[in-house]
Amino acid sequence: MIPYGRQSISEEDIAAVAAALRGNLITQGPVVEAFERQFAEHVGAKHAVAVNNATCALQLAMRVAGIGPGDRVVTSPITFLASANAAVYLGATPDFADIDAATYTLDPAALARDWKPDTRAVVAVDYAGQACDLPAIARVAHARGAVVIGDACHAVGGAFHTETAPGRSWRLGGNPWADMTVFSFHPVKTMTTGEGGMLVTDRDDWAEQARLLRTHGMVRDAGRFQLPADDPVLGEKGPWYYEMQELGWNFRMTEFQAALGLSQLRRLDGFLARRRDIVAAYNAGFADLDWVHVPRLRHTEDVGTASWHLYTLQVDFAALGKTRVEVFKALAAEGVIAHVLYIPVHLQPWYRKVYGYRPGKCPAAENFYAQAMSLPLFPAMEDSDVRHVIATVRKLGREAAGTVGVAA
Ligand SMILES: Cc1ncc(COP(=O)(O)O)c(C=O)c1O
Repeated sequence: MIPYGRQSISEEDIAAVAAALRGNLITQGPVVEAFERQFAEHVGAKHAVAVNNATCALQLAMRVAGIGPGDRVVTSPITFLASANAAVYLGATPDFADIDAATYTLDPAALARDWKPDTRAVVAVDYAGQACDLPAIARVAHARGAVVIGDACHAVGGAFHTETAPGRSWRLGGNPWADMTVFSFHPVKTMTTGEGGMLVTDRDDWAEQARLLRTHGMVRDAGRFQLPADDPVLGEKGPWYYEMQELGWNFRMTEFQAALGLSQLRRLDGFLARRRDIVAAYNAGFADLDWVHVPRLRHTEDVGTASWHLYTLQVDFAALGKTRVEVFKALAAEGVIAHVLYIPVHLQPWYRKVYGYRPGKCPAAENFYAQAMSLPLFPAMEDSDVRHVIATVRKLGREAAGTVGVAA
């Protein structure tokens, strides 16, 4: 069976984790700090704050940006639940603007058209590893006083180009448009720590606040204590002393996860190169089929910088004369496990019940969903696996008895 995604763990990764496990401290410590420093450098941001997963990183990002009850947070419906749920955890209202039908990322025009005055943040998702149109999204959001939180969970290590600066690329996490960016290290992502996430920003105050909130809002640094020496009970400040100055959470990453992260970071460029090669092979393998659309890039130059977490086809199931369930069964019978990423979040039962969202709210996203099929994509795929996936998909067309074929 060829799954849709899978981690790649080397002997070096295992040795790095084992070494961390032999240390005295296995929860957050110096290895986490080293991972943060190297990750910040890799993406070109001033600060990186490691956490236990990217859902928590999104929650932290919104919290340090001051998002709370009475605020609206807008994201793309074509994302994992977490991009919207994080706003709910903070008491804000999650909302959705439609996608651009060509790139499946948040459409800046839809964002501007449906803007509501209580919107305080936009979660800009780099679907499948292609950067969303961050300059245009930031123009809409910043002019209206909202922050841009880049959700680059699919795009660890990715970069993108803009029309305004041909030939120059910007890294996700290190660009002037996203105020903060979060990354996920879940096993199917472009590098992994088992579970894990990172929040990056150039703002000193936000980074400091995120570090505080990651550990229950607890302060151990004597220079920052708030209670005076003459406090009737807590005046004595010994080595045991700590203060809780904010209501935070336990969002810490462990040393052995960070050790895996450091080791995987060294392998990241290789992972991305392999993913790009597989995508190029898929695109070539499906180019002549008139019943599928391969993923499109906003800028042709991004062919060398997009990080490709997912490979999602748009399939004309009606032309094929098969339902999506039948297609999935046919692929599985040949050992190819496809997936549908994602179900539009606004149409989940809970979102319908609580916010009253209904079909028709985001038509481009809903059309995308109707035709979406994600194929296996992970660096350890052999060339023979890639050829097998291509042949299996092409066979579906041949079985369709002349109703579909190759493009003219
Ligand atoms: C776009 C997006 N945002 C956020 C998340 C949440 O990441 P994590 O699983 O690390 O909490 C994911 C994970 O699947 C994701 O795909």
